[in-house]
Amino acid sequence: RKVVLAYSGGLDTSVILKWLQDTYGCEVVTFTADIGQGEELAPARAKAKKLGVKEIYIEDLKEEFARDFVFPMFRANAVYEGEYLLGTSIARPLIAKRQIEIARKTRADAVAHGATGKGNDQVRFELGYYALAPDIRVIAPWREWDLTSREKLMAYAKKHGIPVEMRKKGGSPYSMDANLLHISYEGRMLEDPAKEPEESMWRWTVSPERAPNKPEYVKLEFRHGDCVAVNGRKLTPAQVLTTLNRLGAKHGIGRLDLVENRYVGMKSRGCYETPGGTILLKAHRAMESITLDREVAHIKDELMPRYASLIYNGYWFSPERRLLQELIDASQATVNGWVRLKLYKGNVIVVGRGSDTDSLFDPTIATFEEDRGAYNQADAAGFIRLNALRMRIAAKLKSRR
Ligand code: ARG
Ligand code: SIN
Repeated sequence: RKVVLAYSGGLDTSVILKWLQDTYGCEVVTFTADIGQGEELAPARAKAKKLGVKEIYIEDLKEEFARDFVFPMFRANAVYEGEYLLGTSIARPLIAKRQIEIARKTRADAVAHGATGKGNDQVRFELGYYALAPDIRVIAPWREWDLTSREKLMAYAKKHGIPVEMRKKGGSPYSMDANLLHISYEGRMLEDPAKEPEESMWRWTVSPERAPNKPEYVKLEFRHGDCVAVNGRKLTPAQVLTTLNRLGAKHGIGRLDLVENRYVGMKSRGCYETPGGTILLKAHRAMESITLDREVAHIKDELMPRYASLIYNGYWFSPERRLLQELIDASQATVNGWVRLKLYKGNVIVVGRGSDTDSLFDPTIATFEEDRGAYNQADAAGFIRLNALRMRIAAKLKSRR
């Protein structure tokens, strides 16, 4: 029996590693992905080695994450419950997919993860596993073991010689999850939704108050709905996110404090910083505003909450998500051009947009000046009267009663 563990190198997954070896007597293969969490991965290798792991996989998945997961999601303008840009939700399917591929390669019959039994992440990992490997054995230690408190976990770690850096250098007491798209914070002081988080919690962005007093302009270019250049420089998807994150962080953009509904039924308070994603979303909507037909844009907007819930709830590999993606992708054929934005103290302000090839904005029709017959204002009278007809009939009926 062999199991592929999604291994971060942190305390929790190190304890899980040891626990799997002891409880199941199985060989553990570790898989650690760099998806832009900004942590050194070398310690993960050293720790896994120390715990007797022979097959250690450490992979840079930043481009794949940005190109095949984040960008397709942004074509939909996906936002969960009006606010959350799905930074953690969109990363889980990629990790699940690579874990399954590694399980095949190493002839492992099981996979394991470090998500608790209370959250969304367990659902996202496991729906991904089952969709890609229907007969895989799933081990979720948090749902099985009796290490039900922080102290018990520490005691277990100490007993088995697992290095307990109580808190990592400059460590945070929060439950965090970071990648190229966002950092999330949950737990501890945040468990009182009435209390403002302390300023020192935020790792990425400056506060809007301390952001520069001068606005900064940025120009994004889009091709088929994807951002392909920033300020005239062609960039890969991962480079786009990195560049926009730096700009956004500097200007205090993309902080969010939210109580959200988890799929398992509870409400949970979380804080997020998504600097680059916040800029990208605003810019993409502005790009669509001149390049999409009205009804196409409105259908996209109606489907968006559904699509966002699918991603939040872990259904990335479902037939319905794939179906919606085909529709969304098809809509992006005309989403080409540029958007200019102003970044200022937490705000992303659109100041211009254009498209040489696909703009549906017709100034000769929209103008308040003389339109030389492009639009006949007299047509509007009949248009309005026919649309008013049923309301006039109803009003007459009411006045007769
Ligand atoms: N609540 C967010 C979500 O469900 C963030 C989850 C963070 N996960 C974590 N393991 N810290 O997407
Ligand atoms: C966890 O419970 O492992 C993290 C939070 C979540 O998955 O929602």
